[in-house]
Amino acid sequence: MSLPALRTFEQRIERQLRLLELKKTIIERNIGRQMRLFERKRDGIGKKIEEKIEEQIRQFERKRGIRLDDEVRFIRSWLERPLTIGAVTPSGKMLARAMARYVDPHSDGPVVELGPGTGPVTEALVQAGVAPSRLVLVEFNPGFCRILRARYPEATLVQGDAYSMRRLLETLLLQPAAAVVSGLPLVTKPIRMRLRLIRDAFDLMMPGAPFVQFTYSVASPVPRRLGGFSVEASERIWMNIPPARVWVYRKI
Ligand SMILES: C[S@@+](CC[C@H](N)C(=O)[O-])C[C@H]1O[C@@H](n2cnc3c(N)ncnc32)[C@H](O)[C@@H]1O
Repeated sequence: MSLPALRTFEQRIERQLRLLELKKTIIERNIGRQMRLFERKRDGIGKKIEEKIEEQIRQFERKRGIRLDDEVRFIRSWLERPLTIGAVTPSGKMLARAMARYVDPHSDGPVVELGPGTGPVTEALVQAGVAPSRLVLVEFNPGFCRILRARYPEATLVQGDAYSMRRLLETLLLQPAAAVVSGLPLVTKPIRMRLRLIRDAFDLMMPGAPFVQFTYSVASPVPRRLGGFSVEASERIWMNIPPARVWVYRKI
């Protein structure tokens, strides 16, 4: 093949390649448009299904007087971190009320709640007359924190580790706490950590103020023999899954 003929051949190939490139871009653009259309439709259908399910859950909740979405969120968190969450479902109303009963709503100072989860005990405290603005909630699960922020906008929410309570609250509390109410799964922690927690709490509390803790286990979650505080226990609350008991510790 002569040189001019070769050049003409090359130019023809290049033109074909450019044409191919152009067609490819058009096809890609069309596919992209179809995909976006499909995603929009899919999202729309998904949203409608979600709305339908949510409506049915709401109806079920209204009939039974319970909050299923909290249960679902709780179970999901428990599946992710069973030892940290420490319970499969939120505390029932009876247990929450039993805990709130140990807090004097007319006392002065903040009421600290450790591990409020989705807030059943918080709710019981508010219903018992504790002003939401007095509540200091320490929770480290971000999903639960979102729920708490939405439900108790007046409360002070600290997203952090309750076992670092001293560092977290020392400067935040403007006066000694009137009570510390804990839903932490204490028994999953070594005894020295439990003791440090309760001593740190006592340092932040008024003399004689209650440290209120619930547990599913039979024994006191903070060993009595170590002394330095008084111990009081409620009756076992059978109307809770699983049945639980409230323990109250006060610095002597
Ligand atoms: C057994 S659940 C109790 C939740 C709620 N108080 C109730 O009664 O349903 C324990 C809660 O403590 C929280 N928690 C566990 N360890 C924590 C920690 N070190 N600091 C802050 N929150 C913690 C968990 O995320 C969970 O919300």
